[in-house]
Amino acid sequence: MATHARQGPCGDLASRLFATRKLTLDLAAPLSDADATIQPFPDASPAKWHLAHTSWFFETFVLRDHLPGYRAFDERYAFLFNSYYEAEGPRHARPRRGMLSRPSLDEVRSYRAYVDEALERALPQLPPAALDLIELGINHEQQHQELFLTDILATFAESPLEPAYGALPPPQCFAAEPLSWHAGREGIVEIGASDGGFAFDSERPRHRVFLSRHEVANRRVTNGEWRDFIDAGGYRTPTLWLSEGWDWLQREQVAAPLYWRDGATEFTLAGRRQIDWAAPVAHVSYYEADAFARWSGARLPTEAEWEDFASSADPSLGNQLDGTGPVLPRPGGGMFGDVWEWTQSAFASYPGFAAAAGAVGEYNGKFMSGQFVLKGASCATPRGHSRASYRNFFPPSARWQFTGLRLARDA
Ligand SMILES: [Fe+2]
Repeated sequence: MATHARQGPCGDLASRLFATRKLTLDLAAPLSDADATIQPFPDASPAKWHLAHTSWFFETFVLRDHLPGYRAFDERYAFLFNSYYEAEGPRHARPRRGMLSRPSLDEVRSYRAYVDEALERALPQLPPAALDLIELGINHEQQHQELFLTDILATFAESPLEPAYGALPPPQCFAAEPLSWHAGREGIVEIGASDGGFAFDSERPRHRVFLSRHEVANRRVTNGEWRDFIDAGGYRTPTLWLSEGWDWLQREQVAAPLYWRDGATEFTLAGRRQIDWAAPVAHVSYYEADAFARWSGARLPTEAEWEDFASSADPSLGNQLDGTGPVLPRPGGGMFGDVWEWTQSAFASYPGFAAAAGAVGEYNGKFMSGQFVLKGASCATPRGHSRASYRNFFPPSARWQFTGLRLARDA
């Protein structure tokens, strides 16, 4: 994998590494051992597991593979905290992660400290290939920081006590910006990550695509517009839905975004709150986003349309994760922040795609089946993590992430 971790001085890599490691620990600070042990459903993971798995990633791919004589913190942890790497051997079943009352949260913190100290000692002597893996490990841990928050939201949402992860100020009564349409570029454009700087393997190579005449909305679909969709019978009109989506809706009894509790409130990381009608809708599946777009007389953008439209936007702006505490989509915002935006594009390889060599080659490529690409960034995405070429991906029924949509249409 050409990750080019060594672009900056080693000191920059080290400071980003330990800042990332610290943020993960800080995110866990408000949690009890019990909070950190629960697995709300099989696709989500316990907070404790995120803390340990991100450490296992560094311990395995950097320390074990590149530091002669490194001794693992606990040899048994490889079985517990390997996520999906077949090349790393057998592992604990994903749906059973919530059964791990041991190691305790404090023992997992000790594991993190052990790995961090070993990384700090090893950094000056690590070969370039290991520094590339540290860069990958930083980006990997940032992905888990987002999952950490969305999984805690899912965990707390299970409790009738409706606990709050933290406090947020009440919504301010902003009005939503009026919807307007902007012409996207027509013709041959380039998408994907160019060669400089870090990018995941799935973002490369940069390549040409053809865009037909189209328009993209100036903003995301809001909660208020979603209420209109519900009131118009959107969830009861089969002609708006993909066949799989209609089956899913009936099977799962879906009639509103995941955390809406009634017509006026939603469950958030700050507990139950009034729905902010001007904020972008979040926690909707691909099926719901697609049905809403059809109801609107529009469609979801393709990945290439979205990426080209966003190519001049600054990915470091917007409502993204800067530190600890609860997060929530807010009104306004541009192409990055608040919610990930569903596209109609399948997560598939680009022409000339090559997975990285070794176990980390399993990072993205093997998931290129049955998933759709999401673009942008959410309020739970660590600032600096995303970019226009970034390819988040989830199955079409997933909605526990901060997922929303922006409309597009043919012109
Ligand atoms: Fe992972």
